[in-house]
Amino acid sequence: MTALFPGSFDPVTLGHLDIIKRGEQMFDQIVVAVLNNPAKSPLFTVQERIGLLQEAVLGISDVRVEAYSGLLAEFAKKCGAQYILRGLRTEADGVYEISMAQANRRLMDGLETVLLVSDPAYAYMSASLIREIAAAGYADSGFDDRVLDQWVIPAVKNMLKRKYL
Ligand code: PNS
Repeated sequence: MTALFPGSFDPVTLGHLDIIKRGEQMFDQIVVAVLNNPAKSPLFTVQERIGLLQEAVLGISDVRVEAYSGLLAEFAKKCGAQYILRGLRTEADGVYEISMAQANRRLMDGLETVLLVSDPAYAYMSASLIREIAAAGYADSGFDDRVLDQWVIPAVKNMLKRKYL
């Protein structure tokens, strides 16, 4: 059983990592699928996002990281994946996730989405909030960036520092 764990991962967070680790207990292999969509103007290039994810999943077996563009359902067919794995932080996430799951099942017959409820420690956090905190924080001389350690791995913190300091 192969599951895709798709997302923008701009950048990967400890919340993503928690879902990957828990998903790895449920599936034979996880393909972390990084959306390559320059139109979204991500902070990190797709190569940077993949590099950070590869570092984050070091030591977790049966997980690989790949880029995709276009339709996720087409990428699932290419990978031979029958499942999409996503984290669910809030009720608001549910609205989007349910529509995506339904659309993806129409796009590929039998493509099932499995939603894992986020650990409460990460439920309020998102990559966009992390980018916002890092951007404002590094612009402020009094910023103690150790605060970022509760949300991201050190390699991500270093990259955020390089981008924003
Ligand atoms: O991390 P995100 O931005 O919440 O992830 C959303 C993502 C990348 C999973 C979704 O936007 C996606 O798969 N986009 C690719 C295009 C596609 O297949 N869209 C239709 C999904 S129903």
